[in-house]
Amino acid sequence: MKIYPSLISSDILKLGETLSTFDTLCDGYHIDIMDFHFVPNLTWGPQFVNAFVKATSKPLHVHLMVDNPVAWIDVLDLRSIDSFVFHFESPGLEQSAKIIEKIKQKNWRVGMAINPETAVSETFPFLDLLDQVLLMSVKPGFSGQAFLPGVIDKIGPLLEQRDQLGVSFSIGIDGGVAQDNIRSLSKNGIDFACVASAIFSPEDHVQALKDLYATSENERSNL
Ligand code: DX5
Ligand code: ZN
Repeated sequence: MKIYPSLISSDILKLGETLSTFDTLCDGYHIDIMDFHFVPNLTWGPQFVNAFVKATSKPLHVHLMVDNPVAWIDVLDLRSIDSFVFHFESPGLEQSAKIIEKIKQKNWRVGMAINPETAVSETFPFLDLLDQVLLMSVKPGFSGQAFLPGVIDKIGPLLEQRDQLGVSFSIGIDGGVAQDNIRSLSKNGIDFACVASAIFSPEDHVQALKDLYATSENERSNL
């Protein structure tokens, strides 16, 4: 399983240091964008995200928890290895197919995130166009919330669709991932996890990340 540390919980005054420490250790980074409207919290603006792009060679997953994700397409300067992940529920979205087309024109990877209460079948019409589906396992807005186990039921139908359609989108999970659930998520077919507090709350962030990798890998070899 791939792990994308979610920088929302890292020490924001030491971001450069964190990137240089983690670059050789993780698969990429998860960047939470919040606009104080779609969710009751505010994080990075476009300048910040574009600075991240320049500061790492690792892929970024830019997770837009905003009313109007389309407006962000023109102000971000991502690379072809980076993913632009919009929410199916964003009110400013006229049509998911339109935003997917715009993101593809930029030659970025494209992901669709769904909230815990959204049916997984809402993603089905778009699966042949997507590079990733991001399953929210907490209500979006804050790190440090408890994992909502109901999300596990969404994995099987996505795996089935992936098989049936012969497509290759990856399935990610975001929220409340920690030592106690990463094994079973990996076993259930999750391709990547976005993790904030389980990495940045312990004093030794590097060890916490290594422990998460070790736990998810163990499960793989036990299958
Ligand atoms: C929640 C964010 C998550 C969050 C995860 O709105 O989308 O990416 O950073 O935080 P943890 O891992 O602490 O649940
Ligand atoms: Zn996120």
